[in-house]
Amino acid sequence: MTATVPKPLPRGENALIGPGVPTRLSAPYTGQPGPDSSPARVAVVGTGAWWGREHLRAFSVRSDSELCAVVGRSSATAEARGREYSVPWYTDVSAMLEAEQPDLVSVTLPNEAHFDTTLALIRAGVPLLVEKPLVFDLAEADQLLAEAAQRDLFFAINFNHRYAHPVQLAHQAMIDGKLGDLVFATWRFGGEAGTSAHPHANLIETQCHGFDMLEYLAGPIESVAAQMTDITGKGFSTMTVALRFASGAVGSLVGSYDSSYAYPATHHLELNGTAGRAVVTDTVGQFELSRVGEETREVWQPGYFNDNDRQFHRMFDRHLDDVLRALRAGDEPPVHARAGRRALQLALAAVSSFETGRRVDTPLD
Ligand SMILES: NC(=O)c1ccc[n+]([C@@H]2O[C@H](COP(=O)([O-])OP(=O)(O)OC[C@H]3O[C@@H](n4cnc5c(N)ncnc54)[C@H](O)[C@@H]3O)[C@@H](O)[C@H]2O)c1
Repeated sequence: MTATVPKPLPRGENALIGPGVPTRLSAPYTGQPGPDSSPARVAVVGTGAWWGREHLRAFSVRSDSELCAVVGRSSATAEARGREYSVPWYTDVSAMLEAEQPDLVSVTLPNEAHFDTTLALIRAGVPLLVEKPLVFDLAEADQLLAEAAQRDLFFAINFNHRYAHPVQLAHQAMIDGKLGDLVFATWRFGGEAGTSAHPHANLIETQCHGFDMLEYLAGPIESVAAQMTDITGKGFSTMTVALRFASGAVGSLVGSYDSSYAYPATHHLELNGTAGRAVVTDTVGQFELSRVGEETREVWQPGYFNDNDRQFHRMFDRHLDDVLRALRAGDEPPVHARAGRRALQLALAAVSSFETGRRVDTPLD
């Protein structure tokens, strides 16, 4: 399976643009369908109190989608969510598919429970949007992608951070050459632990956003070397990964479940080039662009009435603009599930580096 990720650029050129990525800032969020299209019927599988609800909310408020069902593991939760959003509820995915015939199924299950349900949905031949991480195992990722490809299936993954306004400004700054040639990129992201039992849960389920973002903005990573700690007894919950990009630039990724999302600047993304530096703070919080030797800089922060760009949750709505547009048009998803496989490949290479004490190559396959 060939991953659609950026091809290496010759040394000295600007960093390049990731898979299926808009090459300009997206239009303001409208949620409007095209002139000739009826809303896509969307079913949500997963009833989590935060993110399951977020999927239900997002599809229920748009005019280009119609939330048609919710599927949960327990009938009590499924019913509660169904009543909350005034849609039929199910505890069986097949029964839901047969009765509702959705145009898209959105999957938001616990991190370590993605594989079986995703495979069943692929085999049912229904277009999919799945939550990150794709899965925790590369063979499982390959099977999902191969079976989806056999059926020519729409298979999107929710790397919604790409749709944060500051990230899009950073992306545009790269495209416009405002940073010159990239020399280094830094990603740091940390907070409290989730519930997954996997010893590398943070690296796989949370830092997948980091690997995806760094390749989106800076191009392919050609090798990794990692250090990790388990001193808090929660698996390898904090790690640093040294990166080398195919462009010749270097980078660092620091991830943690031993920090707090309450801390200011708990997310920091920095792109340092020969001509300037771009910094994104807290994903949606701030973008700043500095030029070498200049003590004044450009800063974007959401304005007084700009709740859309201020909110973490609106990144998902913006991503859905593109997901539903692509689905209607019969196009490939804006962020194909292959990007989930690539993030997993990079995470597992970091694990291998830590375990062997060696730098590990990460070619695109
Ligand atoms: N992209 C983002 O910004 C973002 C943010 C938060 C969470 N997420 C992702 O969303 C996913 C869900 O997160 P969460 O916090 O809601 O998880 P969760 O564990 O709180 O909730 C998942 C829900 O799915 C239900 N469920 C479990 N097995 C099921 C099955 N076989 N069929 C139907 N329902 C089943 C559970 O009962 C639970 O209610 C995770 O993959 C997470 O990484 C993504």
